[in-house]
Amino acid sequence: MAVEIEQFMCREDNFGVLMRDPVTGDTALIDAPEEKPILAAIERTGWVPKLLLITHHHADHVEANLALKKRFGLKIIGPEGEKDRIPGIDDTVRGGSTIGFGNEEIEVIDTPGHTAGHVSYYMPQSGVVFAADTLFALGCGRLLECPPDVMYESLKNLSDLPPDTKVYCGHEYTLSNARFALTVDPDNKALQARAKTVEALREAGRPTLPTTIGDELTTNPFLRWSDPSIRRHLGMEQASSDAVFAEIRRRKDNF
Ligand SMILES: [Fe+2]
Repeated sequence: MAVEIEQFMCREDNFGVLMRDPVTGDTALIDAPEEKPILAAIERTGWVPKLLLITHHHADHVEANLALKKRFGLKIIGPEGEKDRIPGIDDTVRGGSTIGFGNEEIEVIDTPGHTAGHVSYYMPQSGVVFAADTLFALGCGRLLECPPDVMYESLKNLSDLPPDTKVYCGHEYTLSNARFALTVDPDNKALQARAKTVEALREAGRPTLPTTIGDELTTNPFLRWSDPSIRRHLGMEQASSDAVFAEIRRRKDNF
């Protein structure tokens, strides 16, 4: 049985995620952006977390670590490469590590790019990946600590997950991502339709996440480095895939 997931907003545009195994009742949080909305979600669901999985060291993902640890005594797990910058960390993981949760295993995928030690958490049985600030709906994270080819490899690994995998991300950036995506992939009908849906959801004050790997493959320009129409549009028909990715990322930084 797949995990149950409660997604909620924190801060300006961060997502908080609480998940629970419906059989064993095991509960975990993915990242800790802000204490108050996390406590409200715990109150609303009655799901008390015993585990906190951290994707990367940024303050808007770890701010509530110590407060939550004090209150719930939860165990904090995060990436080995960023352990010195993750408050209250108990245990470290790296790509290939597995974490037992309820009746299934969480697989750790190394996804450096946004930060050098960023990891994503993949649950094959539930068909869910928590990609935080690596892959966004119609976008990807800024390259703050790594060159483009590193992020390209991380996105490639995520894009190889089964297409029906649900993707949970760190931020609600989809509307501005859609506006940019249309500038590099203007003829993509699926993207045009999705941009309209995203606009309607945001107007109604609703989240645009989670997404799926399949939807990102057809509409997210940061995964569409092989697409002939995008390559033609960029004048990069013969370029390597990571060069196409780097050019799209460069344009987005200046958008
Ligand atoms: Fe971040």
